[in-house]
Amino acid sequence: MTTPQPPAVVIRTHGLGKVYSPGTEAEVVALKGVDLSIGRGDFVAIMGPSGSGKSTLMNLIGCLDTPSSGRYECDGVDVSTLDKEDLAALRRDKIGFVFQGFNLLPRMSALENVAMPLGYAQVPPAERLRLAQEALDAVGLSARSGHRPSELSGGQQQRVAIARALINKPPILLADEPTGALDSKTGEEILSLFKRLRDEDHTVILITHDAEVAAHADRIYVMHDGELHERP
Ligand SMILES: Nc1ncnc2c1ncn2[C@@H]1O[C@H](COP(=O)(O)OP(=O)(O)OP(=O)(O)O)[C@@H](O)[C@H]1O
Ligand SMILES: [Mg+2]
Repeated sequence: MTTPQPPAVVIRTHGLGKVYSPGTEAEVVALKGVDLSIGRGDFVAIMGPSGSGKSTLMNLIGCLDTPSSGRYECDGVDVSTLDKEDLAALRRDKIGFVFQGFNLLPRMSALENVAMPLGYAQVPPAERLRLAQEALDAVGLSARSGHRPSELSGGQQQRVAIARALINKPPILLADEPTGALDSKTGEEILSLFKRLRDEDHTVILITHDAEVAAHADRIYVMHDGELHERP
């Protein structure tokens, strides 16, 4: 007998749509009928002009928002069947986020910022700090762990945000413009980090405006006016 394998497709959407402020004058159709299938160990880039719906899609994939239409299965689970608590647990266990802008807490040190998500996972404090230090080491920031975000460069802040996203070893990493604020050398370092994660069977979804950055991914999707197409 063979051990059952987890499903190879970790992200699957069917006709996913999002309308903001429906039925009002401010209505925006941000996402239209998006069909997407992304597997374990895939490294995928999503490109597209400003306002085309990239962050909207990322928020849905990350279960931070709910679709107006269509279906989303995350690691085999139809997320529309989950209540608030189950959704929070799914986010915690499956998904690491690197947001557009870094979303670091200004009063906390780099180490404390990285350890943050572990609080919810109920890890003892000493173990939290050890894991956080390990994650900072992995992004090359061992020596800066006691500094606050305002005392770090943009690239260093971005690496803290990535270490934080990785602290729970989530199978899915969502990164919205993670290299946007970085010089090209730091950007390259972050891209190699993503490739290493991909090789360790994480699924990496990277949103970027930059074609050179996207070229590092195994597949590229382009978003236009809320529609998503794979670039041949
Ligand atoms: N919370 C919201 N309420 C209303 N409209 C929104 C909201 N968030 C985004 N939109 C609109 O939805 C559309 C898609 O926005 P989205 O943030 O997904 O674009 P994007 O592709 O990420 O753009 P950028 O490259 O500038 O980050 C835009 O027209 C935007 O103004
Ligand atoms: Mg965006």
